[in-house]
Amino acid sequence: DNNIAILCSGGDVSGMNPAVKHFVEYSIQKGLTPYFIYDGYEGLIDNNIEQATYADVAGIITKGGTKIGSARSKRFLEKKYRKIAKKNLDKHNINMLVVLGGDGSFRGLDIFYKEHGIKFCGIPSTIDNDINGTEYCLGVDTALNVIRSALDSIRDTASSFKRAFVIETMGRDCGYLALVSHLTSGSELCLIPEVPYNLELYVNEFKKQLHHGRRYFLAIVSEGIEQDTNEIAEWFEKEVGIEARVTVLGHIQRGGNPTSYDRLMGYKFVNYAIDALIMGEQESVICYDKNGFNLKSIDEVAGIKKDLDPELLQYLID
Ligand code: F6P
Repeated sequence: DNNIAILCSGGDVSGMNPAVKHFVEYSIQKGLTPYFIYDGYEGLIDNNIEQATYADVAGIITKGGTKIGSARSKRFLEKKYRKIAKKNLDKHNINMLVVLGGDGSFRGLDIFYKEHGIKFCGIPSTIDNDINGTEYCLGVDTALNVIRSALDSIRDTASSFKRAFVIETMGRDCGYLALVSHLTSGSELCLIPEVPYNLELYVNEFKKQLHHGRRYFLAIVSEGIEQDTNEIAEWFEKEVGIEARVTVLGHIQRGGNPTSYDRLMGYKFVNYAIDALIMGEQESVICYDKNGFNLKSIDEVAGIKKDLDPELLQYLID
């Protein structure tokens, strides 16, 4: 009963590969035998499970994505497939699971644990930063830096023309990426799902600014707002009176060379996860806040909507 496995589920993030690498190294250091489960819960169902070696993880620390693959598994939502998954784990004598994923992945895991009692530890991993109970999710820093770099480039071209640029960020229903990117890139407008807005209130001010020589606007829009991003660009053209362009950043936000911060967080998350499993923790998620790392039970984390940091929200409203 020294076998431990890792899988990635849901949207990949930059930071998964550094975490997977350290998982192999730290497991071996602790006298455990590490296994990879490929393609998330899909691989668990299809018995795509293999013992992992140092050679498997050589050189992956610099890469975004995840070497062991990820998936959004629909089958894992069905009881009969979870039963098959449990049988596959038994075949390999695996009774400890480290899962890198987001809220949806944790909800599936919670049910799996309640049905089959497989010990697990979750590592919050999503660029959306929308997991309840933790202030940080693996991959957020790299995503923010990808967005920052994109925004800085867009500013170059925006400043050369008289134009408004409306840039859509990911985040699902959470405005975190958009809001932090707004505060750190100095954009003029930020629209997120958490804060109701009325564009009419900006018209006079923006027109006045144009009149006084402003050449361009940057507007950051989170994908979760009710309006389509193109409508915001149309509003700039029709109401403010400036030509507008839309950039949907899309999946570039999920990839790229992991930042030092995400590499370090991946390392630490994995250390805490393996230690927790060795200590006998049954169903925990490693959370991170101002006081550092702490363990929460899956019930405190999964399926609960996370509120956006009130301090950040206040900056937007002010
Ligand atoms: O959860 C991460 C995320 O990138 C969201 O920001 C986005 O809404 C979604 O995944 C996109 O999912 P997919 O890659 O399946 O299209």
